[in-house]
Amino acid sequence: MKKLPTHIAFIMDGNRRWAKKRGLNKMLGHKKGAEVLVSVIKELNKINEIKYASFFAFSTENWNREQKEIDAIFHLIEEMFEKNEQEFNNLNIKFVTMGDISRFPVVMQEKLIKVQENSKNNSGLTVLLALNYGGRDDIAQAVNKLLKANFKSVTEEDIKRNLLSYPAPDIDFLIRTSGEQRVSNFMLFQLAYSEMYFPKYCWPALTKKRLYKALKIYSKRNRRFGGN
Ligand code: FPP
Repeated sequence: MKKLPTHIAFIMDGNRRWAKKRGLNKMLGHKKGAEVLVSVIKELNKINEIKYASFFAFSTENWNREQKEIDAIFHLIEEMFEKNEQEFNNLNIKFVTMGDISRFPVVMQEKLIKVQENSKNNSGLTVLLALNYGGRDDIAQAVNKLLKANFKSVTEEDIKRNLLSYPAPDIDFLIRTSGEQRVSNFMLFQLAYSEMYFPKYCWPALTKKRLYKALKIYSKRNRRFGGN
């Protein structure tokens, strides 16, 4: 492929619909979704050009779901690291969380902090996990940091340097599965010039073949960034 994204992002949508279509419990949709997430991380880490991968794992709106479903998602996040942390580290993958994790169960917070700490010197793929994350809130907290530092006016560059994703560059390519065509308050500032792709299949149905097809689609896009 001629051109690959440096920073790729995913809105992992359609876990419940995937399960429902198969007559399965919705929790199984999330379980399969978590397995796909692990495979995608490992596959992207093999591609040298891709340095950053962001995933919308839990939005500020997801708190509105049944407690049982929320607990199941939390459990899957913890389990993902329990089962794979060693391998992720051997593969040199770095993890960063974005969002206010203080509302999560203490054990999960501790796990997430430890995962970041243990992987902070890794130089392979950086995985940015959005947890209790909102794109507008990301911009607001950046501005608040600047106000605290006594800035009288701010530039785009100042905001960029204080986003939760910093130092990751702007997102080159966003994939949202399940056919929904919207960004749902995900990394609004970082998505300004990103190419987008909205395949119809649900997140648990994302295979390696489909991932490479998506990358091929990106490689053919003509990015002009508002110029000629
Ligand atoms: C969207 O499907 C997905 C989520 C709400 C969160 C993503 C969760 C996972 C991939 C599972 C585990 C997470 C991690 C980080 C290991 P949906 O429930 O909105 O499905 P629907 O659109 O069909 O209702």
